[in-house]
Amino acid sequence: MIKTGEPALPKSMRICLYLALPLCLSLPANASQAQSAAPVIKYDTSDNIIYPVQARHGMVATEQRLASQVGLDILKRGGNAVDASVAVGFALAVVLPNAGNIGGGGFMMIHDARSGKDVALDFREMAPSSASRDMYLDSAGKVIPRRSTFSHLAVGVPGTVAGLTQALSKYGSMTLKDLLAPAIKLAEQGFEVTPHLAGMLDASRDHLGKWPASRAIFFKGDRPLLAGEILVQKDLAKSLRLIAQQGPSAFYEGAIAQKIVAEMAAHQGIMSSADLKNYKAIEREPVKGTYRGYQVMSMPPPSSGGVHIIQMLNMLETYPVRQQGVNSAQNIHLMAEVMKLAYADRSEYLGDPDFYKVPVKALTSRAYATELVTKIDPDHATPSSQIKPGKLQAYESDQTTHYSVADKHGNVVATTYTLNLLFGSGIVAAGTGITLNNEMDDFSVKAGAPNAFGLIGGAANAVAANKRPLSSMSPTIVLKDGKPFLVTGSPGGSRIITTTLQMILNVIDHDMNVAEATLSPRIHHQWEPDQLRLEKGISIDTQNILAQKGQQIRVSRPMGRTQTIQINADGFEGFSDPRNPDGKTLGF
Ligand code: GLY
Repeated sequence: MIKTGEPALPKSMRICLYLALPLCLSLPANASQAQSAAPVIKYDTSDNIIYPVQARHGMVATEQRLASQVGLDILKRGGNAVDASVAVGFALAVVLPNAGNIGGGGFMMIHDARSGKDVALDFREMAPSSASRDMYLDSAGKVIPRRSTFSHLAVGVPGTVAGLTQALSKYGSMTLKDLLAPAIKLAEQGFEVTPHLAGMLDASRDHLGKWPASRAIFFKGDRPLLAGEILVQKDLAKSLRLIAQQGPSAFYEGAIAQKIVAEMAAHQGIMSSADLKNYKAIEREPVKGTYRGYQVMSMPPPSSGGVHIIQMLNMLETYPVRQQGVNSAQNIHLMAEVMKLAYADRSEYLGDPDFYKVPVKALTSRAYATELVTKIDPDHATPSSQIKPGKLQAYESDQTTHYSVADKHGNVVATTYTLNLLFGSGIVAAGTGITLNNEMDDFSVKAGAPNAFGLIGGAANAVAANKRPLSSMSPTIVLKDGKPFLVTGSPGGSRIITTTLQMILNVIDHDMNVAEATLSPRIHHQWEPDQLRLEKGISIDTQNILAQKGQQIRVSRPMGRTQTIQINADGFEGFSDPRNPDGKTLGF
């Protein structure tokens, strides 16, 4: 059982109360992840207390411990949170090759302490200029299998290098060369494949194995690398070195661009040198809302995440969520009904704001939330078919990654970026070591028909030249009295939004520390399919009550993998979601 309603003590002090005192006193001021320095972080059935990592001067939480170490080293050298985030972004491209990338794209939320400004940086991939609405259909109008996922036509113009370098030049303080050095070293010298990475390589055997340039990196003979073997990426090291020497133009106009275009031309791809040259990261206004006195800042379209997190928080604020208790039947039923209403809107109204007028203000207004909650019956689940005529929307791939960084100056950065599926398209552009995304599949490849992952959408997210596909990635910053309080986000496709929502609720409503908030079982409903997904850990009694209310329950595999940092008056508390065992939070 997770405790709620603790005495009014700071959460860090509360942890000390529950720890044996000597153990508490021995928690070093420069505590690194508690997973390696005792106490071990896991469900603690003896006293119900779970320990976040604590630190005073800065913190980095990522899905790969080597990348967390890179970020920590940058902070220790005096770099700010943006510097560390840029270094981590490049390092994850090496050590988390299934999702970390320079051949993909993503989003970064920055709170810049100097100016007090909050920034949403969009470096989402873009459709090539000769992309068109029906490019994934045959002459009979049928979707051609795998074309939008595992072919050269699946690749969107990558945004990561533009995004990371733009963040650095506007908000960082160190040189690109310094920040790329650790990633170059990791690529050149190699690192040991973890059991988790080996599992993902094995799961990607078919689409990686198809391409000689990909096999050359990720295979040994006729099989993918195994745990314990060393992954060396010499070509990727060369590409990173070129970027260090020449800046982003090496990627978008120079030798790397030429190789990517040659790769495309050799396999009926359509990405041109002009597409790469014209790519721009875009600074956008974050989506903003408030929740019980906290300010919530998240990613605007082309992400759907920020809009729907705020829309759901607006609805939930009208209920006594804390009194309901975390994951009580009443609480889960409410969250599910709120999620259904938000995801029904997602299918209709969300797309690239440069192509489609997304009604952000209306969707995130309190008036609209007040209207929506009148549709919620506390005793009965409303069938999804009655919420809006079905535009089926199935579960998206969860092969994305999120990381959070906070520094002692009050800067915080939340970054979520992706190749889309595991190792993206599986295509490495020959001679570059760069794995290319398959983000084109995040468009609605045919209006009203499911794509390879069952995703259906309408005009708002149809394929078009130079358009960015809709995303669920939701890097989020919560402020308290204008100062950073929580930095969070997650991979998990459509479950990113509900995972991030529950992190906010667990900390603010249920008074959990970030470790407790992370480990609490998650739920997810996305309107269609009409299915309430529950992680293991929700009691059978609760499930029975939910079923009586008419919820269609399905016990699910783990959902989301958060990397979260909370900022308190006396320092940082962070936690890497053990749903990925390779993740690590480090602080000093
Ligand atoms: N490719 C998953 C997302 O952007 O939501």
